Amino acid sequence: MTTVLGIETSCDETSAAVVVDGTDVQSNVVASQVDLHRKYGGVVPEIASRAHIEQLDSVVEEAMAVAGCSKETLDVIAVTNRPGLAGALLIGVTGAKTLAWAWGKALVAIDHIEAHAHSPAIELEESPWPAVGLIASGGHTSLFRIDGPTQIVRLGATTDDAAGEAFDKVAAILGLSYPGGPEIERLARDGDPESVNFPRTMLGHDSLDFSFSGIKTAVLYHVHGHGRTSGGLEKLLARDLADIAASFQQAVIDVLVRKTMLAVGKTGLSTVLLGGGVAANKPLRETLAKACAERNLTFHAARPAYCTDNAAMVAALGYHRFRKGDLAELDLDAYPTGFKIRG
Ligand code: KG4
Ligand code: ZN
Repeated sequence: MTTVLGIETSCDETSAAVVVDGTDVQSNVVASQVDLHRKYGGVVPEIASRAHIEQLDSVVEEAMAVAGCSKETLDVIAVTNRPGLAGALLIGVTGAKTLAWAWGKALVAIDHIEAHAHSPAIELEESPWPAVGLIASGGHTSLFRIDGPTQIVRLGATTDDAAGEAFDKVAAILGLSYPGGPEIERLARDGDPESVNFPRTMLGHDSLDFSFSGIKTAVLYHVHGHGRTSGGLEKLLARDLADIAASFQQAVIDVLVRKTMLAVGKTGLSTVLLGGGVAANKPLRETLAKACAERNLTFHAARPAYCTDNAAMVAALGYHRFRKGDLAELDLDAYPTGFKIRG
């Protein structure tokens, strides 16, 4: 039995989790900072770092207590050390190194995107690999070929904004609060997804890369008039806003689903995995599930609690890296933009 404590502080959630043998999640405590950042319309790095410092100790303590885990029964400490906000990552990495040193535990470094890619596999009874993985979050949107928990190859990625970033920016255009994804999803329920034909940017029929900055501009001009960036929002009725939200959401979903099916066609794989904050979006989950069912593909979406940032995915992947002997030393550093997929 291997018990792993996971620590995640890459952006605006302070999280700690205890996972046994990579699949048995005994605790997953998430202290969200969204209330602190909301009035600024996005994450403020300095505020995020300070909140991580204030909350990390108690979040770790609670995760250990809920799991009934003591420093004697713990084997490994896994921590996100890339990519993310520099100061935010550093708090988690420093905390994890301190605990690993003080308690004499093995230390494992985890790539945040790889952890998201692993999240649909947590708690599955059977290994889902090999699979195509679609990971859509606030910082990244990528397609992967995943042959195992530590064998992941990127097939395509966004060339500009991430899907979640587009949700957040369009929410701001529509006067909704941060984070925008859940707000757009809620508003879209009352709208007609076919009312506005927003662009589906495919970057060529064969590309597995994404581009979401054009649709953000299309929504901006739809709201204010072509070439204008203000003055239009006040003229819209609640019904118009719902239609815009639904049409935008549908356009993003169409692109994500089409590209994922293209990746399935290119790789010949028959399993699709979905993770990342945007994977919490119910219409996306349903549309991708339907597309998979029509093609007889197996589909696993991460549980909503494991879609947005959480330490369960860090601890679960940490188990597999530990088993592989991939240990970090106490000079482990944080790499804000270092996106490195290791085979
Ligand atoms: O994975 P995550 O928590 O953080 C990053 O690694 O970036 O993803 C956060 C992103 C935000 O952009 C947020 O608006 C989006 O995920 N998001 C959603 C939903 N819930 C969160 N987007 C669409 N629909 C949702 N229900
Ligand atoms: Zn994330």
